[in-house]
Amino acid sequence: MGLRETMKIFLDTANVEQIRKAVEWGILDGVTTNPTLIAKEGRDFRQVIQEICSICKGDISAEVVSTDAAGMIKEGLEYSKYAKNVVIKCPMTAEGLKATKALADKGIKVNVTLVFSANQALLAAKAGATYVSPFVGRLDDAGQDGMELVGEICQIFRNYGFKTQVLAASIRHPMHVVQAAKLGAHVATLPFEVLEKMLRHPLTDKGLKAFLDDWEKFKHLPRK
Ligand code: G3P
Repeated sequence: MGLRETMKIFLDTANVEQIRKAVEWGILDGVTTNPTLIAKEGRDFRQVIQEICSICKGDISAEVVSTDAAGMIKEGLEYSKYAKNVVIKCPMTAEGLKATKALADKGIKVNVTLVFSANQALLAAKAGATYVSPFVGRLDDAGQDGMELVGEICQIFRNYGFKTQVLAASIRHPMHVVQAAKLGAHVATLPFEVLEKMLRHPLTDKGLKAFLDDWEKFKHLPRK
């Protein structure tokens, strides 16, 4: 894929406290939401998307719920007025492709979601998607290798110089993130729990405790 900017880390959540924490850690590049995640928060859609957009300046995906292209386009145009960094998430259907093309032609970024095959990713890229979201964990759950799909899509996009970014979604554990990074995925979107697991290592905790204990024991000793 050649040299390019760093792999982006997005949070897959609509919980603003989690987003705030990740922004404070200085590592958050964007956020993805979906109707399930928004519903879990029990808040007004527009309000929560706008709050997320003000906390994190990167791309924030907001998903349409219409199933016809006209409805998706209408929702997409509406959401894109919420904030400059809103990305419209459209499902990988024929109607979703139509909406992707129409929104992309207007300069609006689209994340094509629910991608489960390389062919779907290819079509989404051709329709002008900024991101395609292969669902790694859900493929693994179905007995298929989700990461193999991420690799295939990266290779296809590389072969033709597609600008569409591969956003590894439905990530379930830190090894998924490592695998996505090794394959050259542009983005991984993670539940907050996975992000927390990424930063921890028992040897870090053990080592830090030993350093601090030694410091307490010896700090008062006279130095040469
Ligand atoms: O937001 C899309 C995707 O990341 C959902 O993941 O865990 O519900 O399969 P999951």
